[in-house]
Amino acid sequence: MKWVYVEDLKNHINEEVELRGWVWNLRSSGKIHFLQFRDGTGFVQVVVERSTVPEDVFEVAGKLRIESSVIVRGLVKEDKRSPYGVEVLATDIAAVQIPKEPYPISKKDHGIDFLMSCRHLWLRSRRQFHILRVRDAIIWAIRKFYKDRNFVLIDTPIFTGSIGETAGNLFELDYFDYGKVYLTQTGQLYLEAACLAFGKVYNLGPTFRAEKSKTRRHLIEFWMHEAEVAYYEHEDNLRLQEELVSHIVKYVLENASDHLLALGRDISKLEKVTVPFERISYDEAIKFLQSKGVDIQWGDDFGGDEETLIASQFEKPVFVTHYPRKAKAFYMQPDPSRPEVVLCADLLAPEGYGEIIGGSQRIHDYDLLVERLKEFNLPIDKYQWYLDLRKWGSVPHSGFGLGIERTVAWICGLEHIREAIPFARTLYRVYP
Ligand code: 4AD
Ligand code: MG
Repeated sequence: MKWVYVEDLKNHINEEVELRGWVWNLRSSGKIHFLQFRDGTGFVQVVVERSTVPEDVFEVAGKLRIESSVIVRGLVKEDKRSPYGVEVLATDIAAVQIPKEPYPISKKDHGIDFLMSCRHLWLRSRRQFHILRVRDAIIWAIRKFYKDRNFVLIDTPIFTGSIGETAGNLFELDYFDYGKVYLTQTGQLYLEAACLAFGKVYNLGPTFRAEKSKTRRHLIEFWMHEAEVAYYEHEDNLRLQEELVSHIVKYVLENASDHLLALGRDISKLEKVTVPFERISYDEAIKFLQSKGVDIQWGDDFGGDEETLIASQFEKPVFVTHYPRKAKAFYMQPDPSRPEVVLCADLLAPEGYGEIIGGSQRIHDYDLLVERLKEFNLPIDKYQWYLDLRKWGSVPHSGFGLGIERTVAWICGLEHIREAIPFARTLYRVYP
């Protein structure tokens, strides 16, 4: 008999098929067992009727418990009342394993700490099924965007000798005879090298920051997608970003809107995310915040609350540009007409999600870069290779990094970033 996944059941109406999966819930009326079945691709109800199956099959079904693994054979029936459109009338059931203990995740009101401790099991829940499938769609959307534009994927290293962003939140470790290296905060410096070799490049990988902030937007280990393009200046960079983000949203709406609806996401808000996005300057943002009574001075960086307030004026993501050079990283190109600010932008998502992208034009002048490294007290000797890029064939170039989990949290409408990644590493959690 043909093994079919739940996602394909609609194509097998009135056929007898085999399903392999798990029972996530069950109830019984004495004459009928209703098994809520999942196989990782979807959910369906399996009905086991005493009158239509052999006695021993009915008995097996009666012994099943939550999260029993089972192989079910049955007839696929169209069922308009079912949220899945089909139902399966069992003809045979084989239990692969019946748990000896009750499944720990049983109540509706488990606390978040308990659920995070059970993340290895919690992944099986319908909510996580939908969230992580949206994450999968987002990553495909990113890859497709760059494939269609002929960018080259460059996998950047995890161990780095040169600090990529700031000395403040590094994970240090000993690397054989070399001495101290760091887990990467960003692949940017390596993408800068690669864009001078391949023109337009991107990466997608894990990044690490020992951030002591315990907020709903921060992870210790998170995935970042970065792009870097030779000869791109500030405005080109913003255009690429708005095209990427609107493409991601469109792709998810076209390919995963069922998952968004199942999560209760208001899709009409996402439908507004089309190019172009609004741009406001840091100066304007500061004036706006001060007009709202926020105690903030020119030169300060924004925290989550400030970002939320700024973005709440807009229905789609908004670029905040030209931050003070003191508030941003060493590699950002100062604005030639106003050297106290840099040619950078943060993209703030609406609905309280805050920064999802940070990017900038990069310094391409050798002497200026050396000056800036010194200004930030970074060890010049660890940046010789990076400085070489300014010695041979240096050109203006720009790029950005998009936080995958922040994007997932925004698109899914999650309250907290910890559900946007399969196994979150936060300040107090590295288990499971
Ligand atoms: O703004 P960030 O720090 O930019 C960079 O690392 C640049 N080197 C990227 C580049 O230009 N190539 O980080 C980029 C994005 C942020 O906008 C945010 O979405 C995400 O990464 N991010 C985090 N996500 C979760 N937890 C954290 N602790 C994060 N820190 C940054
Ligand atoms: Mg940033």
